[in-house]
Amino acid sequence: MRIYDIIDKKRNGLELTDAEIEFFVNGFQNGKIPDYQISPLLMAICINGMTDRETAYMTKVMAESGEINDLSAFGDTTVDKHSTGGVGDKTTLIIAPIVASLGCTVAKLSGRGLGHTGGTLDKLESIKGYRTNLSAEEFTEIAKKCSLCVCGAGGNIAPADKKLYALRDVTATVQSIPLIVSSIMSKKLAGGAKSIVLDVKTGSGAFMKTLDDARVLATSMVKIGKLTGKNMSAVITNMAHPLGYTIGNALEVAEAVALLRNQKSDDGLLTVCKTLATEMVSLSKGITQDEAKTLVESALSSGKAYQKFAEWITMQGGDMSVLDDLTAFTSAKYVTELVADCDGYIAKTDASGMGISAMMLGAGRDSKDDEIDMSAGIIQLAHVGDYVKKGQPIARFQSSTVADHSPVHNRYRDSLTLTDTKPQSEPIVYEIIR
Ligand code: URA
Repeated sequence: MRIYDIIDKKRNGLELTDAEIEFFVNGFQNGKIPDYQISPLLMAICINGMTDRETAYMTKVMAESGEINDLSAFGDTTVDKHSTGGVGDKTTLIIAPIVASLGCTVAKLSGRGLGHTGGTLDKLESIKGYRTNLSAEEFTEIAKKCSLCVCGAGGNIAPADKKLYALRDVTATVQSIPLIVSSIMSKKLAGGAKSIVLDVKTGSGAFMKTLDDARVLATSMVKIGKLTGKNMSAVITNMAHPLGYTIGNALEVAEAVALLRNQKSDDGLLTVCKTLATEMVSLSKGITQDEAKTLVESALSSGKAYQKFAEWITMQGGDMSVLDDLTAFTSAKYVTELVADCDGYIAKTDASGMGISAMMLGAGRDSKDDEIDMSAGIIQLAHVGDYVKKGQPIARFQSSTVADHSPVHNRYRDSLTLTDTKPQSEPIVYEIIR
């Protein structure tokens, strides 16, 4: 077999065989096929696409290029969740304990934040002692005892994707549905869960900017997941605005904890969490959405979900006592407020601009090795649809390393549009694809 012929075949819009897909993915991963031949092949895939069969097989080969998490000891109730990435997205911290408290197993590999979006591992590490680096034995033992464990993905999860993604990133070949689907789904397959629920975000802070694009991606991921033997569901959610009222690691943990304690919650965040948790419970227990929704609501209102959260954090080495006083937990050295410079409704936000503002405070990484300030972040004091008066505080900024917040104020202010008329409200959950 020759890579030249595979490039030529795809350039002519033909369907590749399983053997050809295996040849180019594995050949690239083990260094036998150079970048300069994989690059035109990726471009040909971008232009001519792939059939579902090709995409499913490429997903499988990429998943099998590294370790596949063995969750067979947990039966069929293992369930995973994936978000395509957003600002203020603390849903895993809330959903995972809800679902685990209802008898499903969430043994989950998670990632760190880069750019304007945050990562679950970083948020969890704001809790003193929480360990994200576990051995395979520790991971399985905690998942067995608690039904819930979230740790770092390690270096050997879908390594072929890592290499292909790095090449796509510099060859303008990221934007291709089969390549995005195989990239995301290969990592999910390697995660090992039987059921997978995807949170596909759309809007200014999301990878997929329009609802139509999000729908195409969600539909394809559900189809490919099913073809590879998984129970699948995708929820398309709104990321035109940050989710909840906080952005930043410790702040987001505190928001999640307050919600789980039934103390304070943002309506949009609560709706997204309940919807995703309902899908996860329904898929993994094989019950109707209505039955699952009732269970999810009672796990939250009874405090069962919060008890599971405390058990989980403690088992992974986290010190729950640091969460006794959430004000102390989220305190920072420098705190400033931004006030509205005119009267008006907050009509529109640029979620990615708000995420970048949090990153400028030290809450996120510009490049992979940047240090994070766990206390850094933003509390939104006014949301889309709110009427604000000139001089009214609209956001609080905090950090412990960056002392000058004025560039952040400017960036955040540029992310908001104020108008005289009340904006039409938008749904937080657009649709569910099963
Ligand atoms: N996220 C991924 O993991 N892969 C892609 O291709 C795009 C977004």
